[in-house]
Amino acid sequence: MMTTNKFEFALSLNLIVLTAALLVGVSQAQNSPTDFLSAHNNARANVSVGAMTWDATVAKYAQDYADLRKADCQLVHSTGGSYGENIAWSSSSNFTGVAAVNLWVAEKAFYSYPANTCQSGKVCGHYTQVVWRNSIRLGCGRVTCNNGGTFIICSYDPREFASMGRFSHMKLGSSVPRMSLLIVTMSLLIQTSQASPRPYDYLKGHNDARANVGVAPLVWNKTVAAYAREYASKRSADCNLIHSEGPYGENIAMGPGGGPFPVKYAVIMWLSEGRNYDYASNSCRGPGCGHYTQVVWRNSIHLGCAKVICDNGGTFIICSYDPPGNYIGERPY
Ligand SMILES: *[C@@H]1O[C@H](CO)[C@@H](O)[C@H](O)[C@H]1NC(C)=O
Ligand SMILES: *[C@@H]1O[C@H](CO)[C@@H](O)[C@H](O)[C@H]1NC(C)=O
Ligand SMILES: *[C@@H]1O[C@H](CO)[C@@H](O)[C@H](O)[C@H]1NC(C)=O
Repeated sequence: MMTTNKFEFALSLNLIVLTAALLVGVSQAQNSPTDFLSAHNNARANVSVGAMTWDATVAKYAQDYADLRKADCQLVHSTGGSYGENIAWSSSSNFTGVAAVNLWVAEKAFYSYPANTCQSGKVCGHYTQVVWRNSIRLGCGRVTCNNGGTFIICSYDPREFASMGRFSHMKLGSSVPRMSLLIVTMSLLIQTSQASPRPYDYLKGHNDARANVGVAPLVWNKTVAAYAREYASKRSADCNLIHSEGPYGENIAMGPGGGPFPVKYAVIMWLSEGRNYDYASNSCRGPGCGHYTQVVWRNSIHLGCAKVICDNGGTFIICSYDPPGNYIGERPY
């Protein structure tokens, strides 16, 4: 049996061969969406990463590709898709979805969190995709091949951005990520339009939240705002939720096209994560709280934000914080 990850690390050989011994104890169905999901979400919960949800569109992509592989069961990745992808194959017809995920999760032993690398000569890219914080939608497919084997694929949306450089800014399993992403659903869009936002529009929500926890207000800073504006204009071509990797703390949000997306709602979304933050243990529950902790981070005093309408009609919003917050092991306030 072998598994391979589409967005592997450059130094690894991308294939691992596992012995049949790993299959012992695997039985029954364990191929339902719930089975795939809970195998993923258990591994994520273990490193304090929020759960994924099953997505019908992603699942259709995965199953369609599995069906294509029915003829040969070859361990070949799909092409042209935009999702992250883990695949697995077994010569056995009773290889289950849960068994495949367990194989991927077993690579955890080869992942070094402090160094954020895979152990030399080992593969851990399947594992990091499973627990990738920003991959929030899952869909998997499984097929029994004509030769009697089994082909399994899981697709992840959004995919892991897998260069080690970027990766290092998005450490897995930290209680509070230094940076985090947010995708806002259409349901949050309220039909109010807004002209070019003013500093007050960003500051108000931030400073109300800070006052609530006894933290001094942020002040608008032109240098920081210029940085945010420059990065927002860079993202206007694609609206991708990609961080700038700059010197400041950073919250970003994207509103899909089809309606106005006032900055107020981006801030509300970030603040809504406050309910996931547990002060006593200084950790995030469930879907994360890194945007919130950045907003109320006591030592962050300068704020600069920008909003841009992208070429695809979406809205990209960025707030930059100086000095940056979300240092692991420190409390926001
Ligand atoms: C899986 O199938 C193989 C034959 O392909 C069989 O030997 C094995 O006992 C089966 N394992 C389980 C758990 O059903
Ligand atoms: C989660 O952690 C527990 C113990 O810390 C371990 O027994 C379990 O196997 C882990 N589960 C996964 C999916 O990593
Ligand atoms: C704005 O922020 C920069 C650093 O990002 C800092 O050097 C500068 O002093 C700040 N300006 C004001 C007026 O505080």
